[in-house]
Amino acid sequence: MEIFREVNKVQKKSLEEKCKGNVIGFVPTMGYLHEGHLSLVRKCRENTDFCVVSIFVNPTQFVAGEDYSVYPRDEERDKAILERERVDLLFMPEVKEMYKEGYQTNVEVLKFTKPLCGKFRPGHFKGVTTVVSKLFNAVLPNIAYFGQKDYQQYIVIKRMARDLNFPVKIQMMPIVREKDGLAMSSRNSYLNEAEREQAVALYSSLKRGEELYNSGERNSSKIKKEMGKVFSQFPLVKPQYIEVVGAEELDSIEKIQGKVLIAVAAFVGKVRLIDNMLLGG
Ligand code: PAJ
Repeated sequence: MEIFREVNKVQKKSLEEKCKGNVIGFVPTMGYLHEGHLSLVRKCRENTDFCVVSIFVNPTQFVAGEDYSVYPRDEERDKAILERERVDLLFMPEVKEMYKEGYQTNVEVLKFTKPLCGKFRPGHFKGVTTVVSKLFNAVLPNIAYFGQKDYQQYIVIKRMARDLNFPVKIQMMPIVREKDGLAMSSRNSYLNEAEREQAVALYSSLKRGEELYNSGERNSSKIKKEMGKVFSQFPLVKPQYIEVVGAEELDSIEKIQGKVLIAVAAFVGKVRLIDNMLLGG
């Protein structure tokens, strides 16, 4: 596995691979890798000729007061894992390589960034779309892999790629979970033992929502209310939002028809976690 820290080196390598007729697959990450990330990496290895992974804890997507400075990092461990997965190229830029002095350009998706996490993390998605555009322009992938875990991020990036004519296929992969159902996340490492036990609240509430849907309930207010009740059984967990939205446009809906997303965000102690499930369609 080659490791590059400069944008121009990655671009050169990618262009060489393209000239050979190779399909370039890309998995952008912020590192501290877990099985969720690795499911994307494995799919990328399987379906493309040249697999690129990036590790970059992107400062511009952390809102003031969030965990940028303490976000978990372990470069050596991540490198060893990706080596074992037979990744071809690891791109690991420094902040000053990605955001050169005097940087003043952003990429912003206007509508899909407003609901759900957008309401509570102003500027977050602008940071994500800006960095993902920059990463796409460095790696020049044909296919890029994103997890359903961050479903809104997937929808936002898909629209960005379409609107700005990035010649990249955006592929979504299912959520990888722990045995008890907790969605894997680098941020789970912040949880203490008691919090870790109660963190299953997010998945439990989604399962409750799914159960109601499967029994024929189509009123989202009723579903959200019942999902809220699940959280009250977990005193360390405080829901931030419980939403039912259209799966394509993320618009609020009252009467469920077609494919919808049920999505939750919650604080487990001081740790903010998200999870979601797709229903119907
Ligand atoms: P990060 O949180 O490191 O996640 C990298 C990718 O892994 C994302 O596409 C995310 O949805 C996926 N992922 C995380 N946990 C997952 C799980 N349990 N199952 C399946 N996929 C999972 O998302 C980011 O980084 C950043 O915002 C990034 C896109 C890299 C831009 O900075």
